[in-house]
Amino acid sequence: MDRMIARIFVVCLLLIGVVVVAVTADFHLPGNHAGYAPTQPINFSHRLHAGELSIDCTYCHYGARKSRTAGIPPANICMNCHQDVTSSFDTMLSEKLKAIDEEREATRIISPEIAKIYRALGLNPEGLPDPEQDPEPIQWTRVHHLADFVAFDHSVHVAGGIACQSCHGPVQTMDRLRQDRDLNMGFCLDCHRNTPAIASPDGHTTHVSTDCAACHY
Ligand code: HEC
Ligand code: HEC
Ligand code: HEC
Ligand code: HEC
Ligand code: HEC
Repeated sequence: MDRMIARIFVVCLLLIGVVVVAVTADFHLPGNHAGYAPTQPINFSHRLHAGELSIDCTYCHYGARKSRTAGIPPANICMNCHQDVTSSFDTMLSEKLKAIDEEREATRIISPEIAKIYRALGLNPEGLPDPEQDPEPIQWTRVHHLADFVAFDHSVHVAGGIACQSCHGPVQTMDRLRQDRDLNMGFCLDCHRNTPAIASPDGHTTHVSTDCAACHY
C-alpha cells in the first residue's frame, strides 16, 4: 500500500513538472531574449520575401536608414505588391490555367493570410474601401526589446556599412522571425573595440566609441 502511494506521488510530481515546463517554455516577458520567436498575426515569411524574392531589407524597414528605429512597414507597403499578388503564385497560376481551360475569366483568389492585409486597411476583396470594415492596424508582436536605458541607433550602423545580419542573423532564411542572438553589452562592445578605426577628415583615426555615455542615457 505504501509503495502504491509513493508511486502515485511520483506520477503527480512528474505531471506537475510537465505542466510547469509547458507553461514556462511558451512564456516570455519582453526583453533581450535570444531565440524568442513569437507567432505573428499574419503568417509573414522573411525567407520568402527577403530570401526567395530578394526584397531589400530597407525597402520595408526604411526607417533604419534615417532614424534610430528600423520600424515595421505599414500595410500599404504590402499593398505595393499584394494589390495584384492576392495569393501564392501556385494558386494564381492554377486558377489562370483552369480559367483558360474552361473559357472564362480567371477569378481573383485572395488567400486567408493576404485577406488579413485587406481587412487591416478596411478594403474589400477587390481592393476598394469597404464601408462595413473599419481600418485597424496589424498588431505585430514585438520581437526585440532592449532595456530602456540603452540608446541603440540603427542609422549610425547602416551608415557605417554594418549588415543587418551581423546583429539579426540570417533573417532571409527565417519563416518565422526570431531574435537570433543575445544582444547584450559584451556583444556591442566586442564589435566597437575590434572594428577597424575610422579615418576622420583631418587624417587622424578614431575608434568606435566605448564610452558608457555613448550607449546609456
Ligand atoms: C516585405 C517586407 C519586409 C522585408 C523585405 C523585410 N522585413 Fe523584416 N519585418 C517585416 C514585418 C512585416 C515584420 C513584423 C512581423 C515579423 O516579425 O515577422 C518584420 C520584422 C522584422 C524584425 C523583428 C522586429 C521586432 O519586432 O523586433 C527584424 C529584426 C527584421 N524584420 C529584420 C529584417 C531584415 C534583416 C530583413 C532583410 C534580410 C528584413 N527584415 C526584410 C517586413 C519585412
Ligand atoms: C549593430 C546591430 C544592429 C544592426 C546592424 C541592425 N540592427 Fe536592428 N536592432 C538591433 C537592436 C539592438 C535592436 C533592439 C532595439 C531596442 O529594443 O531598443 C534592433 C531592433 C530592430 C527592429 C525592431 C525595432 C525597430 O527598431 O523598429 C527591426 C525591425 C530591426 N532591428 C531591423 C533591422 C534591419 C532591417 C537592419 C538592417 C538595415 C538592422 N535592424 C540592423 C541591432 C541591430
Ligand atoms: C515587393 C513585393 C512584395 C511586398 C512589398 C510584400 N509581398 Fe508578400 N508576397 C509577395 C509575393 C510575390 C508573394 C507570393 C510568392 C510565392 O507564391 O512564391 C508573397 C506572398 C505573401 C504571403 C503568402 C501568401 C499565401 O497565401 O501563400 C503572405 C502572407 C504575404 N506575402 C504577406 C505580406 C505582408 C504582410 C507584406 C507587408 C509587410 C508583404 N507580404 C509585402 C510579394 C510581396
Ligand atoms: C558589428 C559591429 C557592431 C555592433 C555589433 C554594434 N555596433 Fe555600434 N557601431 C558600430 C560602428 C562601426 C559604429 C560607427 C559608425 C560610424 O560612425 O561610421 C557604431 C556606432 C555606434 C554608436 C554611435 C557612437 C558614436 O561614437 O557616435 C552607438 C551609440 C552604438 N554604436 C551603439 C551600439 C549598441 C547599443 C550596440 C549593441 C546593441 C552596438 N552598437 C553594436 C559597430 C557595431
Ligand atoms: C556599445 C554600447 C554600450 C556601451 C559603450 C556600454 N554599454 Fe552598458 N549595456 C549595453 C547594452 C546593449 C546592455 C544590455 C541591455 C539589455 O540587455 O537589454 C547594457 C547593459 C548594462 C548594464 C546592466 C547590466 C547588464 O550587463 O546587462 C549596466 C549596469 C551597464 N550596461 C553599464 C555600463 C557602463 C558602466 C558602461 C561604461 C563602462 C557601459 N555600460 C557601456 C550597451 C553598452
